[in-house]
Parts: sequence; C-alpha cells; structure tokens
Amino acid sequence: MSLFRTKNLDQMVASSQKTGGLKKVLGPMDLILMGIGAIVGTGIFVLTGTGALTAGPALTVSFIVAAIACGFAAMCYAEFASTVPIAGSIYTYSYAVLGELVAWMIGWDLLLEYGLATSTVAVGWSGYFQSFLHGWGFDLPTALTAAPGARPGVDTVMNLPALCIMLFLTWMLSLGVRESARVNNVMVAIKMTIVLLFIIFGFGHVNTDNWQPYAPFGASGIMSAAALVFFAFIGFDAVTSAAEEVKNPKRDLPIGIIGSLAICTVLYVIVSAIMTGIVPFKLFEGVDHPVSLALEHAGVNWLAQWTNVGAILGMTTVMLVMAYGQTRILFAMSRDGLLPARLSTVHPKYGTPYFATWLVGIVFGVIAAFVPLNVLAELVNIGTLAAFCLVSVAVIVLRKKRPDLKRAFRCPGVPVVPAIAVLFCLALMSFLSLITWIAFVVWLVLGLVVYFGYARSRSVLGGAVSKT
Ligand code: ALA
Repeated sequence: MSLFRTKNLDQMVASSQKTGGLKKVLGPMDLILMGIGAIVGTGIFVLTGTGALTAGPALTVSFIVAAIACGFAAMCYAEFASTVPIAGSIYTYSYAVLGELVAWMIGWDLLLEYGLATSTVAVGWSGYFQSFLHGWGFDLPTALTAAPGARPGVDTVMNLPALCIMLFLTWMLSLGVRESARVNNVMVAIKMTIVLLFIIFGFGHVNTDNWQPYAPFGASGIMSAAALVFFAFIGFDAVTSAAEEVKNPKRDLPIGIIGSLAICTVLYVIVSAIMTGIVPFKLFEGVDHPVSLALEHAGVNWLAQWTNVGAILGMTTVMLVMAYGQTRILFAMSRDGLLPARLSTVHPKYGTPYFATWLVGIVFGVIAAFVPLNVLAELVNIGTLAAFCLVSVAVIVLRKKRPDLKRAFRCPGVPVVPAIAVLFCLALMSFLSLITWIAFVVWLVLGLVVYFGYARSRSVLGGAVSKT
C-alpha cells in the first residue's frame, strides 16, 4: 500500500491559509493577464501553419474542439486549485489525493511536458527571429536554421537560434530573474496589440474563395489539427502556480483560469479564420512564421515586421514561464526525496535551484536544436492531455474521499464533466502519431523504472511512514 501513501491534505490546506509567507497581492485581472501571458505563443504564431495544412480552413473548428477539451479540464483544474491553493502544480495536489506513485508519474510526465514545451517555443521563437533578421536583409547559413529533417528538401544541421535563446534564458533564470507581474503585463499588451492589429488589418484582405472547400480533409483532418493546436492552449495551468500570492484564491483562481482560456479561444478562432482567408492554406507548406507571412501576402509589410517583434517578445515570456515551472517541479520532487537532493540545492547568492536550472536548460536546449517543431509539440500535447485526464479523475476521487473539504469553486456536473474532459482528451490523444505514442510510453516506462529503482526507497514521506 506504500505506493499509495499520501501527503496530509489538511496540513497542506492549513499551511496555504497561513499569512506571513508570500504577499497576497494578485487579483482576478492579474491572473487573467498572467494566463494570457503564458498561453499566447508558438501555438498561434507558428502551429497554425501546420494546422491549416492538416485541416484546411476548418482549422477554426479544430481550435474550438481543442478549446472544449481544455475548458472541461480547466474546470477540474480550477476545483483543485481553489481547494488546495498552494504554489505548485498537479504534482503536489495529486501527492495528497492519489498517492505517491501517481504523483510521481504525473511529476515525471510534467517534466517532459514543461521541458519539451520550452524547447518547442524556442523553435517557434527561432522561426520569427529569422524572419525578423531577414526583414533587415540578414540571413543565417541554411545549415544552422533548423533541426535535421525539419524542412523537406533542405539540408539543415541544427537550429542555432533556438539553442542560443534557451541558454540565454537559462542564464537569466539561474540568476533569479523572474518575469515580474509588471513585465508580464507589458508583454501581454504587446502580444494582444499585435494580434488585434492582425485582425484589423487582415480582415479587409480576406478572400472568401480561400475558405472553399472548408474542410478538405474531413473530420479526421479537423481532429488531427485539433490534437496539434491543442498546444496553443497549454499554459493556463500556470495561473495555479501563483495561488499563494492571490488575494482571494477561492474566487479568483477559477476566474483567472477560465477567463484567460475563453479570451484566447475567441482570438485563436478569429486569427485562424483570417489567416486561411488571406492565404490559400497550401502556401503554409514549410513556413515557420505563418502570421507574418499572411501579412506579407496581403502587402501589409510594415505590420509583418512588427508581428515578428511581438511574436519574439511574446514567446520569450512563454518560455520563461515554462522553464521556471520545469525547475520548480524538479525542485519539489527532489525536496520530497524522489529525485537527487542536488536538484533542490539552492545557490547561496542567487537563491535559485542553480544546478537544476542549468541541467534543464542544456538538455532541452540541445533538444530544441535537433528536433523538429511538430514532433516536439505532439510530445508536449500527449503529456499534457494525459495529465489533464488524471486531474479530471482526481476531482472525482477527491469528492468521494473528502466530501467534507471546503471547495470555493466546484466543478459543475461531477462526475459527468470530468468524464467528458477525459473522453475529449483521450479522443485528441488518439489522433496523435504512432511515434509520439511510442516515445510517450517509453518515457512512462522509464519513469516506473526510476521510481522502483530509486525514488521509492528514498521518499521523504516513505521514511516518515516507516519510522512511525
Ligand atoms: N500555449 C503556449 C504556446 O502556444 C505554450 O506557445
């Protein structure tokens, strides 16, 4: 039964309610902006190109399908976050609800998700960075522009800009530079301005003939694209990581999560409709900066270059959030004894988990340099969808195990809504490629091996249990 040993949920809830820790300053608007800051990035700026090639103009429907899956899962997330408002993530929550083994597997899964998400966004960043340089008449040697095999018919060796931005951000994080709420708000304002300008200036250039046929690849094209552009919504869970700094977490967290998701859904649907209306979708083949390409196609070149700048800045903040989340999960798992203590040692001067930060930065920087974007994004999606399934199940389990627990936000329609969330997530997962599934299963099996070979016997909780 020790596989299912749990942390004490009441203690966690009680400690989250103590004051005197982090300052409680954030309100619902801050959280919505934080969510948008973490959500809007490579998904809309880059993956819309591949998504359009997969679904045709019906990419808009793909975005709606992905948003519905996220929406149901978000309600489950919000219930968790408002019940146990502590800094951390579903790893910490599930340790209290589902037991150590499940928590370990979720943590292991999240390491893959956050790490590869950072790599994925770095590759997206690189595409816009190169487009920006090109606007100034400067091109990198082709061999250094993309991972091997990323561009059909072009010989490429590595994605150098992606590696460089990863190492640069790692350096910043290792010095303790965190994106402050103010910087985040500025970045969100820039991203939103770019997206709104795209909508305003792009709208007049839509040629409705480009929307015919609307769904050239049928329902399966729409679902495959949905499984890919699901990536565009990842990040709303970042809102939960600020739980301890929220003034009224029980009310504001659900507003932050669901509000940011709703706003992004509306924007994504409009942007993808306009993009596929300006450019015949086939022209997105091999393009890694589809939004600015659409503007160039429409002849709005000045805005295309500004879009490059906005996308570069916007994706930088997404990377910071993801990389930060990654090191903190490593930190939490190491502090619980499940990973080597080295990963939670804090630098004496900078107060950051220095070793973990550099380890993550180098490993995922190299991955960004050598693995193509779509492969990375699919891997992130399968990991995240699996985590969403577990959160949804956990909501049902927690209702059964602890009906007494106070929940400010109650996911409506339990168990039907969590069950729908699981079904939607599994449906999207089934449209991911075989190679993604194989890689994911290999990662999970590796996780089990590390758990039984290392983590289980070193668990702090396990030690505490065996002594009593
Ligand atoms: N949703 C984030 C992005 O699209 C991860 O970049």
